[in-house]
Amino acid sequence: MKKIFYFPFLFIIFFACGTNERVSKDVFEEVNRSMEIKKVNEADVLNKALEWGDEISQAAQEQLISALQNAISEKGIPGAIEFCQVEAFPILKEVGDKYNVEIRRASNAYRNPEDKPRDYEEMILDAFEYNTENDLPSEANIQRLEGGEVLLFAKAIKIPNALCLNCHGNPNSDINAETLSKLDELYPEDKARGHQLGDLRGMWSIRIPKKEVIKRM
Ligand code: HEC
Repeated sequence: MKKIFYFPFLFIIFFACGTNERVSKDVFEEVNRSMEIKKVNEADVLNKALEWGDEISQAAQEQLISALQNAISEKGIPGAIEFCQVEAFPILKEVGDKYNVEIRRASNAYRNPEDKPRDYEEMILDAFEYNTENDLPSEANIQRLEGGEVLLFAKAIKIPNALCLNCHGNPNSDINAETLSKLDELYPEDKARGHQLGDLRGMWSIRIPKKEVIKRM
């Protein structure tokens, strides 16, 4: 399968790290050394990061969905909302720690304000939105951050099935009254409702240190 790394209309994003110059230079040199030792090239590193990011996002997704399903069967939908509020971040942190990466979900229509897109996520989310609105495929992709020391894996999250609509669908038809009042109570500025099947819900945003990718090559 042909891998596409950059949206044509996305720029590669570099970050100046003023306060961290020394550390950053050391990491840079370490990465260069290990690339020489292993004789890997940049294209192979990006390919590997794309493959690995996909694996990590699937592992994170599975953890979240199985925890969500358990919470729903134990506490019902309204009770599961509280569970999501408390557990979503620790679950992602645990999966991230296992792989030495940082895993986030970012969304323009966020429920938890912590999921509001960061600067470097905005353009990618906008591209996914454009693609979804225009029935174009949204390919997972890799962007280079911080001079290429960090590789950002991004992948669209769509609404795949009716389960999601119980909490992200239309407030008058899909979300029941008890669930709605729980959402109003816990997320007074909730933007994550009114979705339909196939809508873009947000994206996976996984910061992968380049040296972790090289270690695995
Ligand atoms: C039981 C209700 C419930 C169901 C069902 C549910 N979600 Fe959520 N979802 C939430 C809550 C609550 C949050 C906010 C979690 C937090 O505070 O970290 C959330 C957050 C998210 C986020 C993070 C972005 C944001 O808005 O903060 C994504 C992405 C997401 N959900 C996708 C889905 C998808 C896809 C499905 C179906 C597979 C789904 N959700 C099913 C309740 C639900």
